[in-house]
Amino acid sequence: MTIAPRDPHRPGYHFMPPKNWMNDPNGLIQFRGRYHIFYQHNPNAAVWGDMHWGHAVSDDMVRWKHLPPAIAPTPGGYDKDGVFSGCCVDFDGRPAALYTGISPEVQCLAFADDPNDPDLRTWTKHAGNPVIPAPPRIGELTGFRDPYVWREADGWHMAVGSGLRSAPRGPLPRGCVLLYRSTDLVNWEYLHTLCEGDANEGEMWECPNFFELDGKHVLLIAGLPSGKSVYLVGDYRDKRFSPRLRGEIDAGGSLYAPQVFTDAKGRGIMFGWLRETRPISAQAASGWACAQTLPRVLTLGDDGALRYAPAEEVRSLRLAGPGDHRTWVSVPWSGDHTLALHADDTIEIEAVFDPPRGETGLAVRRSPDGSEQTRITWSPVTRRLTLDMTRGSLDATTQRDRREAPLSIEAGEPLRLRVFVDRSIIEVFANDRACLTGRVYPTRNDALGVALASNGPATLSRLDLWRLDPVLDCAAAV
Ligand code: FRU
Repeated sequence: MTIAPRDPHRPGYHFMPPKNWMNDPNGLIQFRGRYHIFYQHNPNAAVWGDMHWGHAVSDDMVRWKHLPPAIAPTPGGYDKDGVFSGCCVDFDGRPAALYTGISPEVQCLAFADDPNDPDLRTWTKHAGNPVIPAPPRIGELTGFRDPYVWREADGWHMAVGSGLRSAPRGPLPRGCVLLYRSTDLVNWEYLHTLCEGDANEGEMWECPNFFELDGKHVLLIAGLPSGKSVYLVGDYRDKRFSPRLRGEIDAGGSLYAPQVFTDAKGRGIMFGWLRETRPISAQAASGWACAQTLPRVLTLGDDGALRYAPAEEVRSLRLAGPGDHRTWVSVPWSGDHTLALHADDTIEIEAVFDPPRGETGLAVRRSPDGSEQTRITWSPVTRRLTLDMTRGSLDATTQRDRREAPLSIEAGEPLRLRVFVDRSIIEVFANDRACLTGRVYPTRNDALGVALASNGPATLSRLDLWRLDPVLDCAAAV
């Protein structure tokens, strides 16, 4: 038997199934100490289709054990065409999953068969499905999917992603979130829209998440047709949400349909689907497609905007052998300055720069001649963080663009970058305030360098470079 060479673009420590397609994270829950991730999964091909809920478990959100799909379409049933996105809740000690069955779109319920099984391997669909057999009669809707459920004093609440194509008032079409209430997860009463967008905020809001964070309420939505994931922070009164502030969750062009759950430590933790940016034919041929972000801990800043930090568990991926960790302190430089010619393809960089006077940052996945490289820089002029992937790969069939996010850094404040390189994934955290995650597919096997990048004199205060353990390379399928 010949063993196919490992695809050099397949990530090693960002969660993904052993093979085939994955999209949205679903049903994130920590139950009796153990983390569960479910995800939109095509078990038969590395392209979207035949949606199941894939499943894996972990004690630390970085080392995962893969399990068989938890929920599959029932032939001839209300979810025959796909088990779409949804969530999990702890229903008085029993894990319950709520998801969308298609076609048509209906909301469905399933329970874990045995709460004493630490893997929660098998699930049974409720006999009363679909628990919401049709959308509310409030006019023509653009969609009706992706239930997200939480508990309040007066019962269970469900947000369902939708959009108004016809409605008595307001611009059309516009994304919205439908709000339901129930005492038993089976019988649901439609209340009203939890929130409605403006005409320029898309016509369909997929994958809503609604939760409390640091005393405020936050709504996440994945917007169509923009393909952007947006957060809204605001007030929740009389079961209506009024947004006061909005922001894009990660403008790197890859992240979509994130999901947030609260773990036993009370942390609001987010995973998000990382789309590929190479042709579908290349994805299909490789036998795998898409990954999840690292687990990100969300908090609210004093300015009311979201803050992101990789969960502390991610540090446990840092290898501790000789040469696995290198440090640079107080390096003045100008232009491009190579620090490591051959860093690994699974690395973490933590860099602190003196308050930048010009465009300042890093180049990663850089070939010695610079023909392939991905640049992460911040400019005090534009006050924007840029992920420049225009030279990320010499392969012109891959998407090679430049992505930006606003990032205001106070005078005298250093630029702090935390960059995770995981083969084709570049996940960037800047000053805890902005994230940009992109995909690059370098063709050269020497595109492994790390360099300092600037357009004038700059000073690196400190940089730590770790090799990370590609723990998922050998995570076996079951
Ligand atoms: C978002 C989404 C959801 C849907 C799922 C289907 O990426 O379109 O709205 O439930 O993916 O896979």
